[in-house]
Amino acid sequence: MSEKLWDGRFAEDTDKVVEKFTSSIAIDRRLYRHDIEGSMAHCRMLARAGILSADEADTLVAGLETIRQEIEEGRFVYDDRLEDIHMHIEDRLSRLVGPAARKLHTARSRNDQVALDARLFLREETGIVIAMLKRLRQVLVDLAHDQLGHVMPGYTHLQRAQPVLLSHHLLAYYEMFTRDSARFADARVRMDVNPLGCAALAGTTFPIDREFTAAQLGLQGVAANSMDAVADRDFMLEFLAAASICMVHFSRLAEELILWSSAEFGFIELPDAFATGSSIMPQKKNPDVPELVRGKTGRVFGDLMALLTTMKSLPLTYNRDMQEDKATLFSTVDTLKSVVEVVARMLPHIRFNTARMHRESDRGFLNATDLADYLVGQGLPFREAHAVVGRAVAHALSQGKELQALRLEELQTFSELIDESVFEALRLEHVVDRRSSMGGTATDSVRGAIQKAREDLQREQVPGDGGGAS
Ligand code: ARG
Repeated sequence: MSEKLWDGRFAEDTDKVVEKFTSSIAIDRRLYRHDIEGSMAHCRMLARAGILSADEADTLVAGLETIRQEIEEGRFVYDDRLEDIHMHIEDRLSRLVGPAARKLHTARSRNDQVALDARLFLREETGIVIAMLKRLRQVLVDLAHDQLGHVMPGYTHLQRAQPVLLSHHLLAYYEMFTRDSARFADARVRMDVNPLGCAALAGTTFPIDREFTAAQLGLQGVAANSMDAVADRDFMLEFLAAASICMVHFSRLAEELILWSSAEFGFIELPDAFATGSSIMPQKKNPDVPELVRGKTGRVFGDLMALLTTMKSLPLTYNRDMQEDKATLFSTVDTLKSVVEVVARMLPHIRFNTARMHRESDRGFLNATDLADYLVGQGLPFREAHAVVGRAVAHALSQGKELQALRLEELQTFSELIDESVFEALRLEHVVDRRSSMGGTATDSVRGAIQKAREDLQREQVPGDGGGAS
């Protein structure tokens, strides 16, 4: 009969298929560093509370350090029979240091242990994601700065609407990723809490000091209710939800890059190093990187749905269902990081066909609103101006001309309020630069937005310095 850490009350060996089915070591081995860190803090706390002797604690901490090295040097042996990373480490510790290892699990359970490990892991990863997003945001702002002055068509309903600055369009994504960062930072605050010492569900009979454990791990708070602490996976759901929203933004950016790189738009050319060819059509250059960014969004949404569904209706407190949490979490962490990295790398190498963007902004009546605004300036109520311009556009369409290409006399047939100054009002650069309301696309407003973004980025602190403890 194999010796399991919990097999005292069992008379039969675990079925082989069940061992494989219930094992999570292939996935949760990734938590080894956080598990060891948590166990070391627990040991020191037990010694301080007089539950372990100082010698015993030193022996355990040294043993845990050895295990960390064994794992990092690839010398550690994994075995499905030991279920998960917590059992693996405890089992190895007892082989390394003998009887003292049997005391490590005093005043704790795997339920609070796994909750702690996952929090430490995710706190670190969230810091890394925020740091990576910050780099991406810097790239966007630099790009907006370099491209300042170039006009492109702005769209609603994917129909040409009004001209905007390319920089303004890029800064829209800067804003989205800034909110994403704030969401991750906010979720990180709630992650940064110590569940250890809640034990299985009810707390423990030992005189432990959970605040001391928290302080050693740099955790900002201590979970207040032992049942909540072992049953809660909100901190993961929040991360997955923030990641899903972030992926919505990435998929919209990706979609635009895909559209813009098509012959139909012809607004950008993707760098060769970020595109691939076709195995049959020699002329093709496919936007695989943005397509995969768009595609991987599905996986992240799926991870969120999977964990929401797993957690839904679970009775308090811990249920083994919850072991499924880590596969979804790791999948999203990895996917999101790969997406942020590749997009930040690709953006600076995109070639913008600004001449074409400019040309296309001057076609398709993108200045029609400006003619209406001009008439309002001449004293006409907006609704009437709207109708006048509608008739002028219909006329121009029938002539195959743009508004600015109509003769003054032709324009005046729609309203006698129109004079020579109308052509300046219809000029592309003028159309853009008149939109100087706060948050608008005028060159000066966008220049100000770039400046503000740079100052904000400069000031911004990445929580936990993009890794490690806070
Ligand atoms: N591997 C388990 C998990 O990830 C650890 C907690 C196990 N607790 C238990 N009572 N079986 O959820």
